[in-house]
Amino acid sequence: MPTIDSVKDKQEENENQEEFNFDCTISQINNCDFSKWYPKYKKISLKSHIIPLEEEFINYLNEDGIYLPFNDNGQPQKFYQAERDEYDSDWSSDEYEDEDEDEANNKIPSFPLLEKQINTVIEEFNGKVFPKLNWSAPKDAAWISISQSLKCTNPSEIFLLLKSSDFINHDISHAYENCSDYKAPSNEHIEKPDSKSQSPQVNEKSITRPETFHLVLRKWYDLLPSMEFRCFVRDNELIGICQRDYVTYYDFLHEIKDELEDIILDFFEDHIKGTFDDPNYVFDVYINKRNRRIFLLDFNPFSITTDALLFNWPELLKLNEFEFRLVESEAHAKETSHGGINPIYSTNCVPKELIDFGEGKTLLEFTEKFAKELQQMSLKEDDDSDDDDNNNKETNTNSKASTSDNK
Ligand SMILES: Nc1ncnc2c1ncn2[C@@H]1O[C@H](COP(=O)(O)OP(=O)(O)OP(=O)(O)O)[C@@H](O)[C@H]1O
Ligand SMILES: [Mg+2]
Repeated sequence: MPTIDSVKDKQEENENQEEFNFDCTISQINNCDFSKWYPKYKKISLKSHIIPLEEEFINYLNEDGIYLPFNDNGQPQKFYQAERDEYDSDWSSDEYEDEDEDEANNKIPSFPLLEKQINTVIEEFNGKVFPKLNWSAPKDAAWISISQSLKCTNPSEIFLLLKSSDFINHDISHAYENCSDYKAPSNEHIEKPDSKSQSPQVNEKSITRPETFHLVLRKWYDLLPSMEFRCFVRDNELIGICQRDYVTYYDFLHEIKDELEDIILDFFEDHIKGTFDDPNYVFDVYINKRNRRIFLLDFNPFSITTDALLFNWPELLKLNEFEFRLVESEAHAKETSHGGINPIYSTNCVPKELIDFGEGKTLLEFTEKFAKELQQMSLKEDDDSDDDDNNNKETNTNSKASTSDNK
């Protein structure tokens, strides 16, 4: 699910084009909750397990800072341990550090049951899973993981992705905020669920979140972005299909376009039409390039909260004839990607300087490099002040140059 800011941007974009009613109700959003639709469509979708999450875990996701829970042996998890080891060897442990560590340790929760459940699913799914919450996957945080993707092989990778993602934060704290029947809570009446009860955060008037959050673990498949398609259904009719990867030109798709259209239309008629709890919705499918088998990937609301990709919402509301849109050429791809600067998740990215500095490294490598760089700089500063003392000043420019040579 896109973040509120990106929804607002899209809203403005569409408002500029035409008057459009963006209303979407809480029940429409709930229909697209994975735990609501998956049981009904599991035979035509990718293998998945749904794990209900305790409130304590949701609180952990909500807290500021990226730290991983202790594992079921009461030990810090892999990432955290590795970072600590690195720091321990670099910097001597004085009493202040120990105090800091104690404080950090007190803050770190542990979720042995959840980890056990996750490990069981990972084992069942041959060691690799794709994680998401009720609606969203942490796609915006993929840059932080070792695989640079959402492929996870252990609980700590999943925790790190969930905790680093704005999309996950949106699911947890803002899922209903763009709904026409959403009522902002009045602070005095909110009852926050305690860590034991599963009750939703409600007062008489406002529903701000689903009753239960779920961790969805899907079996990992190496999907080809070219073979994913988004399908728009209005009044129970499939009115539009387009490439899900709307910023890339795939010339082979044009040769098999008719065949793909037939596969998707048949799939819709046989398995989807009239079965979803809403006459208006969007669904995503994947077609296996080799054997042309088709799978349901996800449902999304027929609303501005869903990216219309190669369409826009005003035209989807009015479209009279079915259309199947592909990216037409390299030039068209440049257009849809805003001149090659990929707009996907651009509002969720880290500053470019950090990416340049990180050179595509993982969080751990990045942290190590950052620490070394910092140490280098402070050594350099010490040198500089020694030099100052000796009345032998080095220029600031030289100091910067020597730092960057060490990158
Ligand atoms: N089981 C899987 N294995 C590997 N990749 C997957 C799997 N499921 C989904 N993906 C990839 O992740 C992308 C996002 O998945 P999904 O639609 O579930 O997330 P989302 O947060 O709902 O995204 P959106 O907001 O675009 O609908 C898919 O387009 C697909 O490329
Ligand atoms: Mg989706």
